[in-house]
Amino acid sequence: MINAIIIINNRRYTVECSESNTVLDVLESIRKEKKLSLHYRHSCHHGSCGTCGAIINCIEGLMCLTKISDLMHERKTTSGKDTVAPQYENGKLIINLEPLKKAAYIADIAVYPAQLFESIPETASYKRSIERANASQLEPDSSYDELYKQICSDAAQTQEPVPDKHVFMKNSLIRNKLELCIECGLCLSACPEEFRGPAGLAAIHTALAKNKPETSTYSNLLALAYAEDGIAQCKRHFACSRVCPQGVAPGRRIQELRAIDSKNSNT
Ligand code: SF4
Ligand code: FES
Repeated sequence: MINAIIIINNRRYTVECSESNTVLDVLESIRKEKKLSLHYRHSCHHGSCGTCGAIINCIEGLMCLTKISDLMHERKTTSGKDTVAPQYENGKLIINLEPLKKAAYIADIAVYPAQLFESIPETASYKRSIERANASQLEPDSSYDELYKQICSDAAQTQEPVPDKHVFMKNSLIRNKLELCIECGLCLSACPEEFRGPAGLAAIHTALAKNKPETSTYSNLLALAYAEDGIAQCKRHFACSRVCPQGVAPGRRIQELRAIDSKNSNT
């Protein structure tokens, strides 16, 4: 067991917890055992609903997947260049929690990701309510193993981070349901630029693959990707890919959208 100080909005909560606890477990225990009012969002507790995102000691993450032990080691920041060292106060681990950026603030660390939802065009398939309604009928299949290998091989070439295999496979059913992205908003928060953003452009990339180039849906989606707030504003930080818990790799998808752009301008 270790002692930790959770800091939210300048309020400090001292707790005893296990290294294997997640940050969400610790918040749940504060709320339950100390009977304190704390505002945060969560649902599934296993990285699939996308609601428990927060900035945890300076780095965007899902609270239900971030273990206390993770915070006891030096971690790479979203820039991929710097590191954040664990901090202690009188032997107690400091865990500073902040709400995600570019989201509508509700209270404490609870936000509503309005900007994220707006960034995803209606024509991107996973926004269609009919697909969501039918999602529970979909089953995971062995192709996810193949997909994971593909992601690892892509990552080796682009030097993007590889998602944890266990988490990836565990979430494979969800990927089936929601077309990869769980709409957690970590990428949007981590990206230092202001534009449509990584999740919206990744959604456009996914939707383009499902539509034929001669259709109006395809050209409308492409127009959104090339619009003023589209791929041109991406400065290739790749913070989005580093924080994405699903291996969506929005940074690589934006690069691929650029490739479509240059193919078109060469014809
Ligand atoms: S692309 Fe990844 S980080 Fe961004 S909203 Fe989707 S799941 Fe979250
Ligand atoms: S509680 Fe669902 S993703 Fe964390």
